[in-house]
Amino acid sequence: MPIQSFPSLSDRSILLETAIRAAEAAGTVLTEHARSGFQIEYKAAINLVTDADRRAEDRIVQTILAAHPSHRILAEERGQGGGTDSRYQWIVDPLDGTTNFAHGFPFYSVSIGLEHDGECLLGVVLDPVRHELFTAAMGQGAYMNGERIHVSGIETLDKSLLVTGFAYNIRETPNNNLDHFSRISLRAQAVRRTGSAALDLCYVAAGRFDGYWEVTLSPWDMAGGIVILREAGGLVSGFTKGDFSLYGQELVATNGHIHDQLLDAIHQRPDNR
Ligand code: IPD
Ligand code: CA
Ligand code: CA
Repeated sequence: MPIQSFPSLSDRSILLETAIRAAEAAGTVLTEHARSGFQIEYKAAINLVTDADRRAEDRIVQTILAAHPSHRILAEERGQGGGTDSRYQWIVDPLDGTTNFAHGFPFYSVSIGLEHDGECLLGVVLDPVRHELFTAAMGQGAYMNGERIHVSGIETLDKSLLVTGFAYNIRETPNNNLDHFSRISLRAQAVRRTGSAALDLCYVAAGRFDGYWEVTLSPWDMAGGIVILREAGGLVSGFTKGDFSLYGQELVATNGHIHDQLLDAIHQRPDNR
């Protein structure tokens, strides 16, 4: 595959197939461990990791490197690795929703994104419990199990079902999203907290949620879902409109219609509609 130019349609299909194969292999590992058991370790007071996270990540990295040995890989549990072609960077969360998984709460996912020259090129998010596979490649639309998906048409915050999350440093910092959560809960129709950022993004893409925000995310939480949401017609930014970075921690992700209203609510401004 030529590395000088933007990946062609057929290159994007090959890359997407690799991502799907890797996510499915990891999903199988998670399903087996959910049935047979797993070991839990603590990274910090409330931050867990299991051997299922690590084994799923191994399968993803093996699958990607078997197909694209020169590509770089940033994976949550092992950090930076892979080959030396810095134009391609895979970003992997082998188990998004570890706390849910560890408690037997069946809401978690595998998330794989690919950056090309720093742009989010494609994303795959697999919910192995519901057998829902979300996929997208830049310019080719977003799909769930092969069916096109689109964001919702809800136009106001007070009719919106929103979702958010809290980082593992919730006890250590005042910038822990609790203030936004209580304020926005009074302005939205309702706010949920599911525990899987990648699925939260896909649920906005599929029109199940109308918007999502979070204060402290890592690139692997977002990389897969961002492309899926954009290709479904959604909008992403940091806490300032037009300003988004996978490495920027803050995220506002919506159906587009309510984006300004959600930003205003985050910044405590009155509704601007
Ligand atoms: C977490 C989940 C959660 C979000 C946290 C993430 P992990 O990822 O995505 O929904 O609120 O900020 O760290 O640790 O389960 O992969
Ligand atoms: Ca995660
Ligand atoms: Ca994880």
